[in-house]
Amino acid sequence: MPGVTKNQSLLFLLLFTSFVFLNFVNNVNGGITSKYVRKEWPSVDIPLDNEVFKTPDGHNAPQQVHITQGDYDGKAVIISWVTPDEPAPSKVHYGTSAGHYKFTAEGKMTNYSFYEYKSGYIHHVLVDGLEYDTKYYYKIGSGDVAREFWFQTPPSVGPDVPYTFGIIGDLGQTYNSLSTLEHYMQSGAQAVLFLGDLSYADRYKYNDVGIRWDSWGRFVERSTAYQPWMWNVGNHEVEYMPYMNEVVPFKNYLYRYSTPYLASQSSSPLWYAVRRASAHIIVLSSYSPYVKYTPQYIWLKEELARVDREKTPWLIVLMHVPIYNSNEAHFMEGESMRAVFEEWFVQYKVDVIFAGHVHAYERSYRISNIRYNVSNGECYPVPDKSAPLYITVGDGGNQEGLAGSFRDPQPPYSAFREAAYGHATLEIKNRTHAFYHWNRNDDGNKVAADSFVLHNQYWSSKVNRRKLEKHHLRSVIGRIAEFEQVTSISGLVA
Ligand SMILES: *[C@@H]1O[C@H](CO)[C@@H](O)[C@H](O)[C@H]1NC(C)=O
Ligand SMILES: *[C@@H]1O[C@H](CO)[C@@H](O)[C@H](O)[C@H]1NC(C)=O
Ligand SMILES: *[C@@H]1O[C@H](CO)[C@@H](O)[C@H](O)[C@H]1NC(C)=O
Ligand SMILES: [Fe+2]
Repeated sequence: MPGVTKNQSLLFLLLFTSFVFLNFVNNVNGGITSKYVRKEWPSVDIPLDNEVFKTPDGHNAPQQVHITQGDYDGKAVIISWVTPDEPAPSKVHYGTSAGHYKFTAEGKMTNYSFYEYKSGYIHHVLVDGLEYDTKYYYKIGSGDVAREFWFQTPPSVGPDVPYTFGIIGDLGQTYNSLSTLEHYMQSGAQAVLFLGDLSYADRYKYNDVGIRWDSWGRFVERSTAYQPWMWNVGNHEVEYMPYMNEVVPFKNYLYRYSTPYLASQSSSPLWYAVRRASAHIIVLSSYSPYVKYTPQYIWLKEELARVDREKTPWLIVLMHVPIYNSNEAHFMEGESMRAVFEEWFVQYKVDVIFAGHVHAYERSYRISNIRYNVSNGECYPVPDKSAPLYITVGDGGNQEGLAGSFRDPQPPYSAFREAAYGHATLEIKNRTHAFYHWNRNDDGNKVAADSFVLHNQYWSSKVNRRKLEKHHLRSVIGRIAEFEQVTSISGLVA
């Protein structure tokens, strides 16, 4: 039918023009460099005798309690803690009402030394077979030093399950870190995606390194004992310190923090994936080999193929080093990983990639730089609707201070940037919509310094296509006036 062809080409012409126009608008608008200047607080670690590092009362009382997702789909948690004085049972008592612990889970205890520092006894217990969407209470330790906490399991994995993630990076243990943590805890988010650089204990020497890992564990317990934090490593976890004969990378981190890496068929705790509610979260290590033929490369290739956007519409990748960053700090450090993985991120329509490392906030446009090969010279980013958003949230507030020097002029790939401390939240509503907020600490929690509606990369285009197909059909069968179509098409594109 010639009418169909005509309608189709009109539709596509209109669509194409609209997309071009939108891209044009994006580019003309340019990026925003926030004029906001924050009040200066000293970027120093809180002294060890401060209340925030308080040791729980009693001999060998469990401390540094933290939980993380324990399996692929959210029916398990790993509960970890330290008994400082002597070995103790690695036992968790738990149940669905406070004080009534029907179940017991048992795990493993470990300890290590770092220079002459000797760690406490570190316990990791997998608690599995949990019900979805249920509040569990748990007890660790025994007698009068027992301590009790609770957590909420996520709803069953599914495409329209609402869920709110918090995003925190480069936290450390300063007054700014405390402010970030307190603001985060008022946000209503349900689990943390952590972007690497936990304690900054490697800023210390000799035995103080281990001591500052312990203090950090006590510092974040106010949140980590109640909510899973999905861990990721940064450069401050490497701790290659030959001057004191400590040369095993990630030693302190690996003894203390667990990840459910086996559940995603990873061979290393440093990279793994979990599915939670409607999100598939992939955690990558910026400081482990990732070029072709390495374990991380092969694993990521297989994991991306396992992603099922019909089950988990939201595909989120976490890494420490940002791939698009226009700050003078760490400029272009992400290039090597970009060269290896960017093509996959575009191919699989990743929704958003969160990174830390740079102590500031920055968000990119949807751009990619994958046309380049060593001989064609096309080595600059271009607008790309299939590309992820790149967001740097390295502004937790550690002792190194803010990265206040952005490159000038703001490059075309950079949409918004600001040097201030804060955290972000991603509030997933359903398969097509999520609300994103970045909150700077200096404002109340309700003030979003950067916020927008994130449209799902897989479903938004699919839903639009379905609507379009419906419109096609109607236009053919019902001979709907072209004017009406124009109206509905522009509605779809916006
Ligand atoms: C671990 O704890 C045991 C028992 O207290 C102790 O003998 C051992 O030296 C510790 N190991 C390290 C590496 O510190
Ligand atoms: C690289 O670019 C050159 C020049 O445009 C082109 O001829 C060649 O096919 C490209 N090679 C690959 C592998 O993309
Ligand atoms: C998804 O959530 C958005 C934002 O709350 C809402 O406008 C939209 O109607 C929802 N879509 C469906 C299919 O429920
Ligand atoms: Fe870093």
